[in-house]
Amino acid sequence: MSHTFGARALSATGLTKRFKTGRTYIEVLKSVDFDALHGDVTMVMGPSGSGKSTLVATLSGLLKPDDGQVRAMDTDLWSLRPGQIDRFRLDHCGFIFQGFNLFGALTALQQVAYILKHKGFSPEEARAKAETALAEVGLTNRMNQRPAELSGGEKQRVAIARALAKAPDLLFADEPTSALDGENGQVVIQLLQRAAKAHGAAVICVTHDPRLEAYADRIIHIEDGRILDDRRTTPPPVAPSPALTGA
Ligand SMILES: Nc1ncnc2c1ncn2[C@@H]1O[C@H](COP(=O)(O)OP(=O)(O)OP(=O)(O)O)[C@@H](O)[C@H]1O
Ligand SMILES: [Mg+2]
Repeated sequence: MSHTFGARALSATGLTKRFKTGRTYIEVLKSVDFDALHGDVTMVMGPSGSGKSTLVATLSGLLKPDDGQVRAMDTDLWSLRPGQIDRFRLDHCGFIFQGFNLFGALTALQQVAYILKHKGFSPEEARAKAETALAEVGLTNRMNQRPAELSGGEKQRVAIARALAKAPDLLFADEPTSALDGENGQVVIQLLQRAAKAHGAAVICVTHDPRLEAYADRIIHIEDGRILDDRRTTPPPVAPSPALTGA
């Protein structure tokens, strides 16, 4: 699927989320407006507990906000039924989260190929694409191992390969480099950047890692459930030259 670079992939208005703690509610998102463009790497930064993961979960159909709207890929996300939201995530979203959500019984190769088969690729295509995606994160010689036989950083890289292989329209990453050394962190952020620049994904990346700031097109600061600052650091996204897409 091709995208109009610079077009809005996602926009949210008035997002509010409260959690009950004991007898009181704490408001974790306080009427947040947010948008993300095709071709941008948008970084969300802020202190621990400021609401970053909650924001990403409400934007991506994982956690229903108490109030507010999310329009994603021209769909009013939270007006969909739960099954339709699952389908939306499968069709449009990639996730790179803490916790990885890998299937214990599947090898690295099978984890990635599984998602691609769901997207409609034949078993052979899925396998070939999965091999390429794992090679890109440096896991060629770990492809046949199961999660229990992989290190934390290797598991994180499998999750990244899985998210990138399906070329998602929306790519959500929450601390994608937290379990990685400097070199592998660099590889990952470059892959996120390529998803945006070559394929036009809207990449939304939560991070504490100041090394990643240099790769952002836009940096959004959130504190205590509110956006304090929204700063574009590069010119608005434009379609890449053919050399970049390999077309
Ligand atoms: N399910 C929940 N029930 C109650 N409180 C919650 C729940 N999930 C999150 N919170 C609270 O909401 C606040 C925001 O949490 P969130 O995970 O969004 O923060 P964060 O910015 O991602 O922090 P970190 O950088 O530590 O990951 C925190 O104070 C947290 O304790
Ligand atoms: Mg978090």
